[in-house]
Order: sequence, then structure tokens, then C-alpha cells
Amino acid sequence: MTTLTLHNGVEIPQIGFGTAAIGQWQQDDSFVTDTILKAMAVGYRHFDTASVYGNERALGRAILQSGIPRHELFVVSKVWDTEQGARTADAFQRSLERLGLEYLDLYLVHWPVPASTRQTWEAMESLYDDKKVRALGLSNFRKADIEQLASFARVRPAYNQLELHPYLTQQELVQYCQFHKIAVSCWSPLGSGTWSGVAATEKPIADPVIVDLANQYGVSPGQIILKWDLQQKRIVIPKAEKLEHIVANFSLWDFSLSDDDMQSINALNRNHRFGGDPATAHESNKKIRVPD
Ligand SMILES: NC(=O)c1ccc[n+]([C@@H]2O[C@H](COP(=O)([O-])OP(=O)(O)OC[C@H]3O[C@@H](n4cnc5c(N)ncnc54)[C@H](OP(=O)(O)O)[C@@H]3O)[C@@H](O)[C@H]2O)c1
Repeated sequence: MTTLTLHNGVEIPQIGFGTAAIGQWQQDDSFVTDTILKAMAVGYRHFDTASVYGNERALGRAILQSGIPRHELFVVSKVWDTEQGARTADAFQRSLERLGLEYLDLYLVHWPVPASTRQTWEAMESLYDDKKVRALGLSNFRKADIEQLASFARVRPAYNQLELHPYLTQQELVQYCQFHKIAVSCWSPLGSGTWSGVAATEKPIADPVIVDLANQYGVSPGQIILKWDLQQKRIVIPKAEKLEHIVANFSLWDFSLSDDDMQSINALNRNHRFGGDPATAHESNKKIRVPD
């Protein structure tokens, strides 16, 4: 399994498994556990969850049932907007309890809430000092948000998870992060899950350029997009329920895209977001509750 090394030396598997809305948003039952167990059987060891996904217990049950040694797994969770600031240390503890774990591999600020960033990050730094988490990171942070954090951070962020797919390539932000040794991870790498309500025909997996490349390389459109990310040293966290998708998204090592083909995918960018905009998301996120 290919890994990237974060700036503090921690290794992260480059392909992770997204868990948002397996079944439905905030579903936390045996269907979620069974889907994650299927991914583990295929070989995934890196799992991306969040307190607001409401499925940390289902992931915890899969970890327990799999029998996979804890040190072979890479578990990521995130602090939701309503848990930022004075509540962050408690929120982390609740995530650990729901997951049934002693530590996390990576803990992220889910969305920037600039008024709370300092207090949130300082709480996360204490968790890092106490070895409750092996690396600290961000999600949806823009350049200005990272600069704000850098003005006081004692522990530098090791990772930033961004909406990133061929219709939203975020090239400047990616370059900025990679220059500052912040690993870039792509959420909704295939153009989002059913939670977004976006028709499959509107997603980059249906784009004629991607479909043509898939035919040319003898792989699926999803594999073309994920390979485009991997070749640029980005982490991917596709979510899949169908076994054929779970397998395909983990089978990316037998081909490589030419420079010209990489450029033709880059050229598909239209700065189009399927999910929230970090400039405004904290307004609506306030209304979304983290289930107990
Ligand atoms: N940090 C954030 O703010 C944030 C926001 C959103 C998401 N995320 C994370 O990113 C993960 C992935 O994002 P996402 O779930 O929105 O979208 P995604 O991974 O881009 O797309 C998931 C959708 O694509 C389908 N699919 C999976 N593999 C496929 C393949 N090889 N070919 C064709 N279709 C395929 C899935 O179908 P089936 O399920 O039917 O197989 C599902 O409908 C989430 O699960 C979550 O962990 C983070």
C-alpha cells in the first residue's frame, strides 16, 4: 500500500475510504459496519469519518470485528463547527469513545470558523502533546485561514482536506499547501456522493474527456480521476458502497497517465463546488447538530 509521509514523519496511506453518508447521512447501523468491513477485506486501512457524520460507532464496530491490529489502521475524525473552541477537547474525547479507540491518527478542524480557530487549535495541540492524536490537520481551510492559524500555531498543520475533483482543481491552494508541507487530501474526489443531490451525469465521472481516457487506458472513469490525484501526491478518500466501486478505487497501480492526459484533466477545471463554500459554510453549519 502506497503511503505519503506527513511533515512530522507519520505515514498516511494515500488511498483512504470515505464514510460520509454510507446508506444515508448520519446512518450508524450494521449496513455501515458491513460496508466498512468489505473495504477492509479489499485492503483499505485508512478511514475518514467525522463527529457530524454520525457513524463513528459503526466504524468502531468494524475496527473491532475486523481483528486488524490498531497500528495497521489510520483513523481520521474531525471537530464540527459547534464543537470548536472551549468544547473541542470534550468533542475529541466523545469521538474516541464512540470509535472505541485510545488514540486517533489524524484529527481535523472540519471547517474554518475564524473566530474560534485559535482556541480550537490550542486544544488540539494539547491532545497532540498528550499523544492522543498522531497528527493535526485542517479541512476546507483557504490560504487566509491557514495564514491566520500560522500566526499562532505551535504545531504546524500536516494535512488539509479540500473539495477537489476535475471541476474544482484549486491549483493555487494546492501549491500553497504542498509548498508549506501540508499534505492535500481530496474530498468528493469523484464529484460527490448522493448527499449532494447532484445527478451522475453532471459529475466529472461522466465528462467525455474522462470517459475517453477511461476507454483508452482500459479502466473506469473513477479510476482515471483518482489516478490523476495520486500522481500529484494527493490523498484520496472516495466513498463507495458497491463492491465493484470499492475494489476499483483501490486498484490504481497498474497504469499511469501521461503528462498530456494529466493536463487535459487539469483543463476541465470550472471552479465548480458541489459542496459548501468555506467562506460562508460556518453560517449554515451552525444549524447542523452532531448526534450523541
Ligand atoms: N471535509 C469535508 O468537508 C468533507 C465533505 C464531504 C465529503 N468528505 C469526505 O470525502 C468522502 C468522499 O466524498 P463523497 O462521498 O461526497 O463523494 P465521492 O467519493 O466523490 O463519490 C461517492 C459517490 O461515487 C460513487 N462511486 C464510488 N466509486 C465509484 C466508481 N469507481 N465509479 C463510479 N462511481 C463511484 C459512489 O457510489 P456507491 O456508494 O453507490 O458505490 C457514491 O455515489 C466522504 O465520504 C467523506 O469522508 C469530506
